Amino acid sequence: MPDTAPAIVLREVLDADLHQFFEHLRDPQAVAMGPFTAEDPNDRQSFDAHWRRLRRNPEVTVRTIALADDPERLVVGHILHFVEEGQPQVSYWIGREHWGRGIATTALAMLLREVPERPVWARAARHNRGSLMVLQRNGFVIVGQDTGYAPDRGRMIDELVLRLA
Ligand SMILES: CC(C)(COP(=O)(O)OP(=O)(O)OC[C@H]1O[C@@H](n2cnc3c(N)ncnc32)[C@H](O)[C@@H]1OP(=O)(O)O)[C@@H](O)C(=O)NCCC(=O)NCCS
Repeated sequence: MPDTAPAIVLREVLDADLHQFFEHLRDPQAVAMGPFTAEDPNDRQSFDAHWRRLRRNPEVTVRTIALADDPERLVVGHILHFVEEGQPQVSYWIGREHWGRGIATTALAMLLREVPERPVWARAARHNRGSLMVLQRNGFVIVGQDTGYAPDRGRMIDELVLRLA
């Protein structure tokens, strides 16, 4: 991780953050990294409906990742803890202009302090080396493999399942 990793905060999601998340989530280079994307990342209506459900769901902890020197405006990504088929999981997404600065690694460490229940799982596409590094640096270990549908490729791709005990 670079020595110059910027200070970040995790805070509640504001309505004003959503347009930034929408842009992050439809960046084709980011979409290509995982199977966890919307059927059509450019569909703002389904994005809004999805985020309304997420923010209302008591089983979901979702946080905006913001730069500490201006948490209201400098939205760099989001991170969430959710339950899928009874399994607690984490996921995160950082805007491309902020990649490689240690932000996802730090944000995950912060979320794991805020939500201390264990075990917790995560999934990453086998080719998503950045995300695998973020998880392993936070103590996750690979416990299995699976496949997930990647809408941008129109096919299933290999993913790894990781767990933090
Ligand atoms: C994967 C992702 C979260 C990484 O975020 P980040 O803030 O750049 O991650 P960090 O800087 O904390 O650390 C990642 C490490 O992996 C490396 N890395 C990042 N992207 C990489 C890539 N595409 N290939 C290889 N290594 C990569 C970084 O250089 C860093 O290692 P280093 O500190 O030795 O340089 C970000 O690229 C992203 O949001 N991608 C799109 C969505 C996504 O894939 N989410 C995860 C779903 S499981």
